[in-house]
Amino acid sequence: MDEFDSKVALITGGNSGIGRAAALAFAHKGAKVVIASRRIQESEETVSLIQDKGGTAIFVQTDITQAIQVENLIAQTVNHYGRIDYAFNNAGVEEPVTSSVEQSEEIWDLVIDTNLKGIWLSMKYQISQMLKQGGGLIINNSSILGLVALPNVPIYTASKHGVIGLTKSLALEHAKDNIRINCVCPGGIETDLLARNLDILGEEGKTKFISLHPMGRLGKPEEIASSVIWLCSQAASFITGQSLAIDGGFTAQ
Ligand SMILES: NC(=O)c1ccc[n+]([C@@H]2O[C@H](COP(=O)([O-])OP(=O)(O)OC[C@H]3O[C@@H](n4cnc5c(N)ncnc54)[C@H](O)[C@@H]3O)[C@@H](O)[C@H]2O)c1
Repeated sequence: MDEFDSKVALITGGNSGIGRAAALAFAHKGAKVVIASRRIQESEETVSLIQDKGGTAIFVQTDITQAIQVENLIAQTVNHYGRIDYAFNNAGVEEPVTSSVEQSEEIWDLVIDTNLKGIWLSMKYQISQMLKQGGGLIINNSSILGLVALPNVPIYTASKHGVIGLTKSLALEHAKDNIRINCVCPGGIETDLLARNLDILGEEGKTKFISLHPMGRLGKPEEIASSVIWLCSQAASFITGQSLAIDGGFTAQ
């Protein structure tokens, strides 16, 4: 029997890109999956993809920037499945690449509310449940831009650096509570979010961005999902408070 069998995995933004790949990977390992996202159609599609392969999943419509909705998500998960073993706090938004003088307060609020407050709120309510049940595993989705910087995306960069700080502080607070908390830091991954920003950069900018990855290619959502699974597994049982770059060598330069 796989260690993930019949465990409960909650994935925010689990309806597309990296989140969908992680939802499918957890389900493939035998976990019961909760998709927490705003968009109904894509979320129901992901639930169907899991069920069609014999897995178990539900969708709880959630905006992670709203405390009441995150509290409801945890309550619904526990009502349905009794506990939360793994949480992948993946939902996030990009900042359109632009000069700093053109960046707006609206974009600041959207990016910081989603990428930073949303992760903090998610962990706050997940940890409350994990303390009651005696433990759990949390993985937050930061970015290579949580570790290093690129120009013209300062708000996104600040939000992703913040995710690493949140991860470290809460990992230390709960190190003795059987709750491990880590981050993944993806490089450029082939998803809608990256495609939107690469479109802004144009063909030349896109080629230049890809060439920043020493492997000479973008990553695939499944390559992040497999690391999330590994960090949640017993094989990673002494790892907490860490940030794992999965970036084709980007941050090794
Ligand atoms: N694609 C990349 O190159 C890359 C690189 C590094 C980090 N990331 C991070 O990976 C995560 C997933 O991104 P992706 O590339 O799969 O893009 P994506 O656009 O496919 O996925 C983002 C998901 O977050 C959800 N979401 C956004 N705001 C939300 C909110 N307020 N409440 C609930 N759900 C919300 C979206 O609906 C979507 O499901 C993000 O945190 C992103 O910053 C992506």
